[in-house]
Amino acid sequence: MSKPVRFDVISDIQGDMADLDVALAAFAEFTVADQLLINGDLTDNGRVRQYKDLTKHLAATAHPPALFTIGNHDFYNHRSTAVSIDRFLEHTGMSSLYSAHEVGGVPIIRLGTTDGSERSGHYVIFGEEQLIWFATELARHAAEVPVVVLSHHVLPNTVSGSFDDPVTQAPKMYGHDYAEVDPVLEILGAHPNVLFLSGHSHWNLYWPDWFSRPSFAAANTGAIQRGFGPDGSGGEQPLDGPHNQGLRIVVEGGTVTVHALDFVNRRVAHTAEFSVSEQSVIMTDGVAWSDALG
Ligand SMILES: [Fe+2]
Repeated sequence: MSKPVRFDVISDIQGDMADLDVALAAFAEFTVADQLLINGDLTDNGRVRQYKDLTKHLAATAHPPALFTIGNHDFYNHRSTAVSIDRFLEHTGMSSLYSAHEVGGVPIIRLGTTDGSERSGHYVIFGEEQLIWFATELARHAAEVPVVVLSHHVLPNTVSGSFDDPVTQAPKMYGHDYAEVDPVLEILGAHPNVLFLSGHSHWNLYWPDWFSRPSFAAANTGAIQRGFGPDGSGGEQPLDGPHNQGLRIVVEGGTVTVHALDFVNRRVAHTAEFSVSEQSVIMTDGVAWSDALG
């Protein structure tokens, strides 16, 4: 049996350093993961002092090596896209906006928007070069190898908030995040071995639709900073009360287990398990905190 490869996943920190500290401490309490994945909205406004604060807090708690993606908030500094991307690269140590990695034999693909202006009406424009690279990169891997894809924004009909029901979802919010949504879904649709991780929505991981497997698999990475849920009329509203969530992923051979973690109550909200060779997903509730992180 192959050795398990563990990933800790968080996103949407947005200046909430107290909750970041709690999440990192929780991860550090149990079996140390092989890689930390931080999926965008690292800062509230992409300011240098916010990146420095993030770096300070990440350094204060022992954690696995980290990979980062860029989020829309990391562009909210009233500077150009180029300045924001340069800051992201400088302070995260990432060599480029998008890249491929391998952790314990598990391929990881980071994606990032080349335009943070939102002038197109979309948060994400990958551009032709990145799309071709992405398709080529996915094609390199055998169908029986799970591939983790990190992208900050939500794809339609994948995770909470992104479905069409105007009462229980937010179709006004999450249908247009990606300018190139059709080619992205076409590329992903050819690879059932992909686990696509998106943050951005801050929708609570207790929602049963936090995970789906339309053909590839998709999981909401939750949010460190505040929660959101439906407003009942196609949009969303912030949730009352404390909120701090993330994922622990375990890959073992062709099997992927994803635990949705609630750092406030130290509870596992849900667990999803799937095999790359099957479309079915086993959903479990009630996994013990120490078992998920052990
Ligand atoms: Fe975001």
